[in-house]
Amino acid sequence: MPKGNSSKLCAKDFGENFVWGVATAAHQIEGAYDKHNKGKSIWDAFSLKKGNIYQNQNGNISCDFYHRYKEDILLMKSMGIQNFRFSISWTRILPNGVGKINEKGIQFYNDVINFCLKCDITPWVTLYHWDLPQVLEEQGGWVNRKILEWFKEYVTVCATSFGDRVKNWMVLNEPMVFTGAGYFLGVHAPGKKGLKQFLPAVHHAVLCQAIGGRVLRSLVNNANIGTTFSCSQITPYSTKKKDIVAAKKADAILNRLFIEPSLGMGYPLEDVPVLKRILKFLEPEDKENSVFNFDFIGVQNYTREVVKHSFLVPYLRAKIIKASKRNVKKTLMDWEVYPPSLYNMIVHFNSYPNVKKVIITENGAAFTDAVIDNKIKDEDRKAYLEDCVKEVKRARGKGFKVDGYFVWTFTDNFEWAEGYYPRFGLVHVDFKTQKRRIKDSGFWYSRLITST
Ligand code: GAL
Repeated sequence: MPKGNSSKLCAKDFGENFVWGVATAAHQIEGAYDKHNKGKSIWDAFSLKKGNIYQNQNGNISCDFYHRYKEDILLMKSMGIQNFRFSISWTRILPNGVGKINEKGIQFYNDVINFCLKCDITPWVTLYHWDLPQVLEEQGGWVNRKILEWFKEYVTVCATSFGDRVKNWMVLNEPMVFTGAGYFLGVHAPGKKGLKQFLPAVHHAVLCQAIGGRVLRSLVNNANIGTTFSCSQITPYSTKKKDIVAAKKADAILNRLFIEPSLGMGYPLEDVPVLKRILKFLEPEDKENSVFNFDFIGVQNYTREVVKHSFLVPYLRAKIIKASKRNVKKTLMDWEVYPPSLYNMIVHFNSYPNVKKVIITENGAAFTDAVIDNKIKDEDRKAYLEDCVKEVKRARGKGFKVDGYFVWTFTDNFEWAEGYYPRFGLVHVDFKTQKRRIKDSGFWYSRLITST
């Protein structure tokens, strides 16, 4: 690896057992969307509709990880990365969502897992990173309570196929985002809108979170089982009472809605009265069945949100004021650059007595990369990541639990509705040639995690 000025941060300050890694997701990297009998996911379907994705792009090829996984895992190894978080595409192994198993799909993940292990890279597998089988969506998807059975079957196949070698599991990726953006706002797949879709989707995701945990616990020996949550520090726009109330509601929705039922605390109904409508979807024993004793909680943070009262926003009466309206430093996603948010979220999840362990399973930033003399200059990303790792160190220094950090993401990839425009990678991808080049931030991360 090229040498350079290493930052003052040093991996050994985080202890020997601290987990350093990179995170990805199947639909964002694999491509090969219809190869070897893979079924269609809601993202394949959503991307077909004009106007849903930036420049009508799609994940059909993406960074072609399906064919290039060896090259990418070897690159990881050359950078000293020892932990690789990726997700399984449900329709690659169960093309119809349930029923017949696609052996070629199982083979692909076996190959990836085995190659990781050969390279001394530990696989961290997410079961569900948003790519629901389209055939199940046609029966209502997350809104249909039958998802409980569908999901149980899918997790059982994953646990029995890979559980002998994969020990680190995450059940869901950011349920708030896939239910909120996919079933309330309609800006992510499957593009559904409104409270009538959102509330049952939330409740079923909460139950599946626990079901997935129980299936893994019963089928995988020595499993380390987690699930992941998106979260952001919430700051009221002003000291006016109305803004403070609005911020509290946003906090309940964005930071508490999924973790609290899993801890046996139920939904945060007191702070968001409209949520009481979710109760009509509860069946006897659902409250107990929502609970699972996770080994770790995956915290995923990118920014903070500033929240203001707004009479025009139905149900919540609260709205997020985007970074561009506040004249603050921002990323290409229009997210404020605000590393202390990560510290505050570590503190937040530590405040629940039953949370045993916290791992940062995603953190990163999209900026424009400058290509100069074949080098990828991404000072802004490097600075952001460095500041965030310092926040993790600060939290550990104050005695808060936080035992791992995964950068989002390894290579540039398909950023959902934003297509290929925002690049988050430590490694630059030329999507025309599929050429990979380590960015300056990638060299920095490599030096950090291999520093002694
Ligand atoms: C997360 C998501 C990732 C990635 C990242 C950057 O919400 O889990 O898939 O897209 O945001 O936007």
